[in-house]
Amino acid sequence: SNLSLLILPGDGIGQEVMVEVRKIIGWYGENRDLKFDVSEDLIGGAAYDAHGTPLSDETMAKAQAVDAVLLGAVGGPKYDDLDFSVKPERGLLRIRKEMDLFANLRPAQCFDALADFSSLKKDIVSGLDIMIVRELTSGSYFGEPRGIFVENGERVGINTQRYTESEIDRVARAAFELARRRSNKVCSMEKANVMESGILWREVVTAVHKADYADVELSHMYADNGAMQLVRAPKQFDVILTDNLFGDILSDCAAMLTGSLGMLPSASLGSPMENGRPKALYEPVHGSAPDIMGQGKANPCACILSFAMALRYSFDQGTEAKRLESAVEKVLADGVRTGDLMQASDGTPATTSEMGDAVIAALNAS
Ligand code: NAI
Ligand code: MG
Repeated sequence: SNLSLLILPGDGIGQEVMVEVRKIIGWYGENRDLKFDVSEDLIGGAAYDAHGTPLSDETMAKAQAVDAVLLGAVGGPKYDDLDFSVKPERGLLRIRKEMDLFANLRPAQCFDALADFSSLKKDIVSGLDIMIVRELTSGSYFGEPRGIFVENGERVGINTQRYTESEIDRVARAAFELARRRSNKVCSMEKANVMESGILWREVVTAVHKADYADVELSHMYADNGAMQLVRAPKQFDVILTDNLFGDILSDCAAMLTGSLGMLPSASLGSPMENGRPKALYEPVHGSAPDIMGQGKANPCACILSFAMALRYSFDQGTEAKRLESAVEKVLADGVRTGDLMQASDGTPATTSEMGDAVIAALNAS
């Protein structure tokens, strides 16, 4: 049966980069006989404009029913003064929460052609290919009690780092499964030296490993040392498994090893559906970029590479995912660049659609 994909372009450059991804989906249908049932709907400010809500119940139901959701970006200055309950970001929070996407996958991969854009020296990042698995639905951003309370005549701000065994167990499994499809190595990061949740995290990860994934190489590291190691020698890692808060920081840190925000894809996975595929949402890491919207300046690669992740993790098309990633790499090596990937002195940047067309040309040549 056909593979079902729901496209939610969202706002700003989310809509612009999605035009390029649609070209690529079309290419796969025509040239590789990969037929997708593609539907499209609104999220974020675009949904608010049409329905008065950033994510309608109908769209939410569609997202629950498809094999994968591909999202652009939401938000923009036009919506800054809206009530919090209908802000574009609420659409994104709702879809992540209701799909229960607990494993956030953020690859940090350094394309050789862009090694000069890294914040680090070329030899430290050249050939880098790591994957951060961040727990996304629990931990300090959700734990109770939380709030600002008055205590002894002054205010106190409280968040609670809280993890259950089952929450740690399921994200650990996601990381081990992933490692088996890569270099078979997981490094789990917490602060078991000073946090109870860290002690439990290390215990559960170790138990899951022993029970079901003894073939995978497992190591543990304190998250602060992990941050240091990511900058000192990032190529020592394959899969990094960590919690919500540490993962937020470590994945942003890792992102800058590779260069532009315009190149970074992500996936968020949940529990397996009836067909065995995990619930899944794919999206570029960047936002709606109001400063460049409507000018053909957006780099579509982050969204294109997010679709490549969908090919790999939702549709079992690892070879085709690699084909698409190699096409992007070739385009960059050939010097086709959007403005975010060049210096002002480098000449005229490629437009969003020129970049997409170049990827299609590279696919044709593959
Ligand atoms: P942003 O990621 O939209 O932009 C940050 C900077 O990077 C801007 O200078 C932008 O021009 C540049 N940039 C981002 N993506 C690019 C691309 N593909 N090609 C070339 N340049 C690119 O983050 P910002 O400015 O903080 O937020 C703008 C809006 O996006 C806000 O409304 C924010 O809430 C929303 N946002 C949405 C996210 C999402 O939908 N997942 C994530 C982050 C922000
Ligand atoms: Mg962050």
